[in-house]
Amino acid sequence: MSITDVPVTEVTLADLPEATQGAILFSPAPSLDVPEPQPIFQRMLEEHPRLRWEGGIAFFRMEDVVEGGRNPAITSEMELAFNLMGSREALIPLHVHGTEHRAYRKLLDPLLTPRKMAPLESDVRALADSLIDEFIQDGRVELHDQFAVPLPSQMFLRLFGLPIEDAPLLNGFKDRILKNTEPDPEVRAQVSVAAGDEMRAYLATKIAEREREGTPRDDLLGACMSYEVEGKRLTNDEIMNIAHLFVIAGLDTVTASLSCIIGWLARHPDEQARLRADPSLVPSAIEELMRWENPVLTSGGRFALADTEVNGVPVKAGDFVTLCWSTANLDPGAFDDPGIVDLERAGNRHVAFAAGMHRCLGSHLARLELRTAVDQFHRRVGRYWITEGDQPHYNHAGVRAAEHLPISFEGR
Ligand code: HEM
Repeated sequence: MSITDVPVTEVTLADLPEATQGAILFSPAPSLDVPEPQPIFQRMLEEHPRLRWEGGIAFFRMEDVVEGGRNPAITSEMELAFNLMGSREALIPLHVHGTEHRAYRKLLDPLLTPRKMAPLESDVRALADSLIDEFIQDGRVELHDQFAVPLPSQMFLRLFGLPIEDAPLLNGFKDRILKNTEPDPEVRAQVSVAAGDEMRAYLATKIAEREREGTPRDDLLGACMSYEVEGKRLTNDEIMNIAHLFVIAGLDTVTASLSCIIGWLARHPDEQARLRADPSLVPSAIEELMRWENPVLTSGGRFALADTEVNGVPVKAGDFVTLCWSTANLDPGAFDDPGIVDLERAGNRHVAFAAGMHRCLGSHLARLELRTAVDQFHRRVGRYWITEGDQPHYNHAGVRAAEHLPISFEGR
């Protein structure tokens, strides 16, 4: 069936299964808090690839999410979207659009290019090693707290230029912003904004400290503070709205992805053994497990500024628009055998880092961290599995993570 023939199902939100409501609104859905949510996403894709509900429209197929992500009339410049990220104002560049968005991306993209990230590999490996040293004698580890949280947090804070000893404080703000599971979106937004206010007060003191120093430091925050557009420095509000987004994006998503990837490999011993035997497969394996695990479920709150269309489907001004990355990554129209995890999959054009204008700015850092951390973990711990008598706990609120991941290992 050509994409233009795919029907649009008309529904009332409350009549949909909880998981579909969660996907549409980017809100908690306990039925997704399981190690293998993929069959639920496959069902969504089969049952209603395009869905119109009373508040807007949701797209589940790859061709539609890619097209929707590119459409300049569909924006995330929306108060509820700011609030759910703990902010009262638009975060940069996620909540700005058009020429303004392009201008910010032009400034920020060069900070995190593959060429800039490559030399960090030895730092990531050394950090992974020092974390593994802490538990290698024990034969077991709570992998989320002892590896998946500290590794990306410490790397990111070093790069961004915030004190590493503040990681627990910043992770606390980030968890209250992104992981609060209040069912009512308005209440959830209030809790997020209260935590965001505290985080911004912290960031304001760090920005003020640097202003007093005069000379910009050689880190990402220093770069943002020294940027000029048409001869004018970014304002403190702009710097704050960039820093706020970078901190929550930098601290949350790699932790979530790393925990999901190691969780999957712990449950699939043959694939794990293949990767350990041939580390050259790690890069393609990471891409495939990002496609499969896809930690960021959907675009976090978009709406149509004007009447428009996506692959021929009318979208009305004011519609809440959902682009579901998790289902698109399982679309048989985009992948051969999407229900099979193939660690050597070629031409893997997944959308785990989104698609279109708001495509992830930190993907090269994330990939470097994931590849290096998984490789070093395999080199050091040998065969590993989920600890008997203990169960992993997955949380799918906003970003999917194995928040409790008990791993036992042989050691080498
Ligand atoms: C595996 C880890 C990561 C995943 C899965 C991920 C995923 C995503 C996704 C899906 C989006 C689009 C959000 C939307 O559509 O509303 C996004 C945007 C973004 N990400 Fe990431 N991300 C990751 C790591 C990072 C890191 C480490 C950073 C920062 C250092 C970062 C910074 C950003 C920024 C700034 C945007 C907004 C881009 C824009 O609006 O133009 N991300 N990311």
